[in-house]
Amino acid sequence: MTEKVKLNNGVEMPWVGLGVFRMDNDDDTQIVIEKALAMGYRHIDTAAYYDNEEAVGKAIQSSGIPRKEVFITTKVWNEDQRQGTVRQAFEDSLRKLGTDYVDLYLIHWPVPGKFKETWKIFEEIYNTGRAKAIGVSNFKKHHLEELKDVSTITPAVNQIELHPYLVQQEDLDYCNENGIRVEAWSPFAANKFNLFNEKIIIDIAEKHEKSPAQIILRWDHQRGVVVIPKSSNEKRLAENIDIFDFKLSDEEIAQISALNRNKRVGSDPDHFDF
Ligand SMILES: NC(=O)c1ccc[n+]([C@@H]2O[C@H](COP(=O)([O-])OP(=O)(O)OC[C@H]3O[C@@H](n4cnc5c(N)ncnc54)[C@H](OP(=O)(O)O)[C@@H]3O)[C@@H](O)[C@H]2O)c1
Repeated sequence: MTEKVKLNNGVEMPWVGLGVFRMDNDDDTQIVIEKALAMGYRHIDTAAYYDNEEAVGKAIQSSGIPRKEVFITTKVWNEDQRQGTVRQAFEDSLRKLGTDYVDLYLIHWPVPGKFKETWKIFEEIYNTGRAKAIGVSNFKKHHLEELKDVSTITPAVNQIELHPYLVQQEDLDYCNENGIRVEAWSPFAANKFNLFNEKIIIDIAEKHEKSPAQIILRWDHQRGVVVIPKSSNEKRLAENIDIFDFKLSDEEIAQISALNRNKRVGSDPDHFDF
């Protein structure tokens, strides 16, 4: 079982979840999620945009695990913000997931000129109890500051790209000061930057008899960051939740943070065009 962190409204969220971006809405995905649930995962991160909410819902239902024991995050897509169809999008996500509430509903990207309006609707949804927590994704400090103009509820979570080449110290400090939990998307930089071959990560992994992936996830954990690594492989799924039986030293944390290059795999939230 993964350990949990309490969000700013008291809702408990598992520190490690399974990210399901780029997994198809099919039986194979359902099987991967069922396996993950069987090995102890209790947190799934999906989005309307991933187009696999049905597979997520089916896996949870067929797992036999009570709904209240699984933490489900989904996200509203940019087009719904632009078209003013956020309420409908939320209903569609619930229907596809086959549930009457989500644990966390996120604004996927800060669509300029729209995200404040979206947040007001998120607060309405939250007040109905059908999203146990609401938050944002890909928000920089200035977006969060702007949100304060309209918000009566502080986002519980900000899900951002974060890995050893993009350590996001400034945004992490800002979120911590404001009671917003940071969640790392692409914690392995989607396997595009060869992080697993970084010498310092390999050395630390050998010392702790853990894999480079586990070292990265533990580095996140000790920085207070929730993680949602994606894997479709049984061995790697098991590895990614097994990070609670060892501890990195402050020096090791600093050595990993020193790999920072401010390098992104995804879009910069100030310059996205989707
Ligand atoms: N909010 C947003 O805008 C946003 C954007 C992107 C992603 N996300 C979320 O973040 C989640 C994770 O990000 P991601 O899917 O982009 O990439 P990621 O989790 O950084 O990396 C996934 C890649 O690493 C491999 N991998 C997983 N565990 C491993 C291990 N223990 N050892 C070696 N390789 C391993 C996977 O391959 P195998 O599957 O073969 O193991 C896959 O190729 C997404 O699924 C999604 O839920 C959110």
